[in-house]
Amino acid sequence: MTTRYERLAADLIRQIEGGVYRPGDRLPGVRKLAAQQGVSVSTAVEAFRWLEDRGRIEARPRSGFYVRAPQWQPPAAALTEPPAMPTPVSGHALVMRLVRATMQPGLIQLGAAVPDAEFLPVKAVQRAFASASRRYGARTARYDFPPGAPELRREIARRLADAGCRVTPDEIVITSGCLEAMSLGLRAVARPGDVIAIESPTFYGLLQVIESLGMKALEIPTHPVDGISLEALRLAIEQWPVAACALTINHSNPFGNRLTDAKKQALVEMLAARRIPLIEDDIYGELGFDQMRPPAAKAWDRDGGVIHCGSVSKTIAPGLRIGWAVPGRWQEQVEFLKYDTNLATATLPQLAVAEFLAVGGYDRHLRRVRDEYARLIERTLHAVTDHFPAGTRVTRPSGGFVLWVELPEGGDAMVLHRQALGHGITIAPGPIFSATQRYRNCLRLTCAQPWSERMEQALRTLGRLAAGM
Ligand SMILES: Cc1ncc(COP(=O)(O)O)c(C=O)c1O
Repeated sequence: MTTRYERLAADLIRQIEGGVYRPGDRLPGVRKLAAQQGVSVSTAVEAFRWLEDRGRIEARPRSGFYVRAPQWQPPAAALTEPPAMPTPVSGHALVMRLVRATMQPGLIQLGAAVPDAEFLPVKAVQRAFASASRRYGARTARYDFPPGAPELRREIARRLADAGCRVTPDEIVITSGCLEAMSLGLRAVARPGDVIAIESPTFYGLLQVIESLGMKALEIPTHPVDGISLEALRLAIEQWPVAACALTINHSNPFGNRLTDAKKQALVEMLAARRIPLIEDDIYGELGFDQMRPPAAKAWDRDGGVIHCGSVSKTIAPGLRIGWAVPGRWQEQVEFLKYDTNLATATLPQLAVAEFLAVGGYDRHLRRVRDEYARLIERTLHAVTDHFPAGTRVTRPSGGFVLWVELPEGGDAMVLHRQALGHGITIAPGPIFSATQRYRNCLRLTCAQPWSERMEQALRTLGRLAAGM
């Protein structure tokens, strides 16, 4: 649910992005805006504050609010240029080294895309565990075989309605996280040696699943703001025997972009016409900064060709290991593969998450963290602009909590990663986001920790190291 001031702010953003108000332009005063929009003055003030917090506008004393010129350098407005052929994936050794580094206590964690406990509803989840234990008694000690606990599937079906998906609980399979859902989806639709089309860059966990299944990745040119190029995807599909397409279409990782609804629809229709399954990772779908829950690609699925995957890892807690798949045509296969992999997801976490979603204040929690992440992204973006060498470019995500940074010519994120570790800082270097280890001059920063002097210092250190290359 969005509040009035958020709707008003989203409206103003649309006007700014549509060129109605350009950088440096003065916005209407609060009274005028309130009268224009039929809202109270305090709603208009809140909307301006919201935009100011996100760096979109600035207050000038005794003058009003002005559209801020972007101070950061967006990534080169061009498509990425991965090799135009399928490649086997390697690189798990490097990723595992990075994953181990993220578990070392005391490091400043800008690498793994994991929210700090400060942004997770830890207490409410503990209460949900206690309540589920009492309510379900001995049932919590038994297996909850696929498709999983009906109580949880019902809650997920309700929330998927916000994403435009009309699915019943019977169409949902509970998994141990989103990555397992993606893996089960890939196993259901493709075999070793098959070609999987992906965005470039993409989430490295997906690359490791493709690697472990012995499939090949076909990296598709992707725009930092507009997302995957449908034209490039169409050409790739015509040239190669693509068995499936695996994409994150809402607030992707690492670019943080969101496909427009028209593009989602065109994507689903293009793949459906060729009977190519789409495996959709919607893990960041509820973390958009304009507070609107964008539709999933599954909303346009007419023949069960989209396998929708999600989890609570970014919103409630990654340690719960609760995710889901809506497998469409592959319902039976995914249920069987889930059973074959590990019989079932643990019962008590399923029931506790169901309890939390039903009564735990999830929407309130989401509103808080979306706001926090938007602010943290903005602060990090400005810190990178201030401390990194001239010519550094940064994405401005539509949601989630990661930033993609492109270093100027000569920048090497693998070297930076090693040097940063020496200073107690982890980052995610660009090459792990590509099957062909591209993006050596890029890195991903996670912004899901409370802002602190230590964090600002870490960004200063990274900037200094990058400038020294
Ligand atoms: C895009 C994306 N998909 C999937 C995952 C993994 O999700 P889970 O922990 O639910 O398996 C992540 C985690 O970083 C992610 O960023």
